[in-house]
Amino acid sequence: MVLIVVTGRGGAGKTTTTANLSTHLAMKDYRVLAVDGDLYLPNLGFHFGLDTVKYTLHSVLKNPDLDPEWAIYKHPETGVHVMPGSTNLKDVLGISPRKLVDLLDRLKYKFGVVFVDSPTGVPFDTLPTFEVANYQLIVVEIERSPIYSFEMMVKNEIEKLKAIGDRYHLKIGVILNKVRESRDVLEDIIAAIEEDLGVPVLGWVPFDNVVPESINVGIPVVKYDPESDAAVTFMEIGDVLEGWMFG
Ligand SMILES: Nc1ncnc2c1ncn2[C@@H]1O[C@H](COP(=O)(O)OP(=O)(O)OP(=O)(O)O)[C@@H](O)[C@H]1O
Ligand SMILES: [Mg+2]
Repeated sequence: MVLIVVTGRGGAGKTTTTANLSTHLAMKDYRVLAVDGDLYLPNLGFHFGLDTVKYTLHSVLKNPDLDPEWAIYKHPETGVHVMPGSTNLKDVLGISPRKLVDLLDRLKYKFGVVFVDSPTGVPFDTLPTFEVANYQLIVVEIERSPIYSFEMMVKNEIEKLKAIGDRYHLKIGVILNKVRESRDVLEDIIAAIEEDLGVPVLGWVPFDNVVPESINVGIPVVKYDPESDAAVTFMEIGDVLEGWMFG
């Protein structure tokens, strides 16, 4: 199963979601690989404390002779297999996104679940990766718009990303992240997304200060502080996803 995690706007929580859903499923004994599909601004490695590794996704894309396993690191605290990207500019130049598709196509047979953390917005560069995917998770930070225009802005963002998932026949789910003041109108927003756009909302995660804290130590919050509000909701969303994928 390949899941692509996308967002309309930067910083909505795509990498945090990728790291936590991967962790939750790995801790339930699935063999999980999390790939940093953001070739230009990768940061998935940071969420697992893997920011100074020798081989990365970029090494594999550049050197076809390199065994992809060399760029996969098993995170000791969670059991997630992580393929980080390189933050070095020279590694990014001349990379072919097409090779990422071929790589995912090979890796998907070795792991029960593969998460791909995508670039922000419509991921034009890595769009071919949608060919090998089964699911698209759209992460939305609803509080980036003024309260009176929430519904319109959120629907507009989701509609565009949904159109891509639909084109590749993916099963699509929405995750609302960093929910704060909008709790009161949350039910209305969820109803608008589900009824007007026809996309299920897998769940919502509150804004929780323990999230940045967990990133700083390189352990996703579901493992770092499983009792926290953010962890509990990520776990619930992970369970819904598990049901989708494995019945
Ligand atoms: N539920 C949450 N509560 C509090 N802070 C959060 C939450 N989710 C994410 N954050 C914080 O928001 C910031 C952005 O999160 P993240 O890197 O996951 O977003 P992104 O969508 O991957 O961003 P980018 O577009 O840069 O790839 C991080 O600093 C993270 O600590
Ligand atoms: Mg990110």
